[in-house]
Amino acid sequence: MNNQQPYLSVRNLQTHFILDEGVVKAVDGISFDVYPGQVVGIVGESGCGKSVAIKSVLGIIEKPGRIVGGEILLRRHANGNGHGGAEVIDLAKLDAHGQEMRSIRGAEIAMIPQEPMASFSPVHTIGNQIVETILLHQPVGKQEAERIAVERLREVGVPSPEQRLTAYSWELSGGLRQRAMIAMALSCNPRLLIADEPTTAIDVTTQAQVLNLLRSLQQQHNMSIIFITHDLGVIAQIADYVVVMYLGRVMETGPIDDIFHAPKHPYTRALLKSIPSIQAKSRTPLPTIEGSIPHPFNRPQGCPFYPRCPDFMPGTCDQRTPGLQPVNERQSASCFLYPQVTEEASR
Ligand SMILES: Nc1ncnc2c1ncn2[C@@H]1O[C@H](COP(=O)(O)OP(=O)(O)OP(=O)(O)O)[C@@H](O)[C@H]1O
Ligand code: SF4
Ligand SMILES: [Mg+2]
Repeated sequence: MNNQQPYLSVRNLQTHFILDEGVVKAVDGISFDVYPGQVVGIVGESGCGKSVAIKSVLGIIEKPGRIVGGEILLRRHANGNGHGGAEVIDLAKLDAHGQEMRSIRGAEIAMIPQEPMASFSPVHTIGNQIVETILLHQPVGKQEAERIAVERLREVGVPSPEQRLTAYSWELSGGLRQRAMIAMALSCNPRLLIADEPTTAIDVTTQAQVLNLLRSLQQQHNMSIIFITHDLGVIAQIADYVVVMYLGRVMETGPIDDIFHAPKHPYTRALLKSIPSIQAKSRTPLPTIEGSIPHPFNRPQGCPFYPRCPDFMPGTCDQRTPGLQPVNERQSASCFLYPQVTEEASR
């Protein structure tokens, strides 16, 4: 995978919410790459900045949030097949409401949002909304758009798709609505699909089906996926590569096998310990990570994880912020346990 160029490169991205009470550094200098055909899982506890990170990529940050630094580099190929000459666009510099960003959002990069109801309007039929999306981004007429909509619904396993076109989202079961949302996101053949916790509201069996479906669609279309979840168990089922976030920063990155079998960062280790075990007796309390996440206005100096870290080194971890640096050939970690990791340059 690494002989290819990344499709998306996020570099030192900072997205802050500037409030009267203070500044929430929701995303505070994160970097990661997404290669063509790769499924990247972003994982971390609630509030660590996963949604803000990907909303930054799509230019849909709510006010008073804004990107205050960094780059979001998208590599586009003129012929669309991943080969030939490419242009690199910095999405962080584009006008979020401008023509170029609108042509990328929903077409080249599509999203399944965290709030299921945000995907479909309750007053228009599923068919109308998918057809509208296709008409907006593709040079086709209404009849062809309807044909594509039916094809996409069939592809995601919605039974009798022709009839479903006239259904409203609230008439569908949770599982079917999820599939219709995926069909809408795929309607314009995106090169990157961003799925924000798409399976939290559905039962475990449906969840497994949706994950399998996403994986097989990803292979058929050779698209990249950024999959966001707080659940490492879900990441294990879908991702090739993992980005572990904590308090707006990246703690560790690496291939899925290394993250699960040889985690390097104390936070990743703590997250792994908190996965419920199938063997655990039903009355065994779920292990949780010691300590609580600091309030966004009271972020610690130094390593953000130090107040909860079992390996905390006084005088080092509370004074300096570790950069995200390679700790072996495949993994990077931001932790001073590794002598090769140095203080982040800009801090
Ligand atoms: N509109 C907003 N105004 C102020 N702060 C915000 C806003 N949206 C998000 N934040 C803050 O930014 C931080 C990151 O939020 P984000 O929604 O990205 O977390 P998350 O990792 O997606 O969590 P979850 O797993 O609960 O979805 C949090 O501290 C949150 O309170
Ligand atoms: S830098 Fe220090 S506090 Fe932070 S994770 Fe590493 S050992 Fe723990
Ligand atoms: Mg979120």
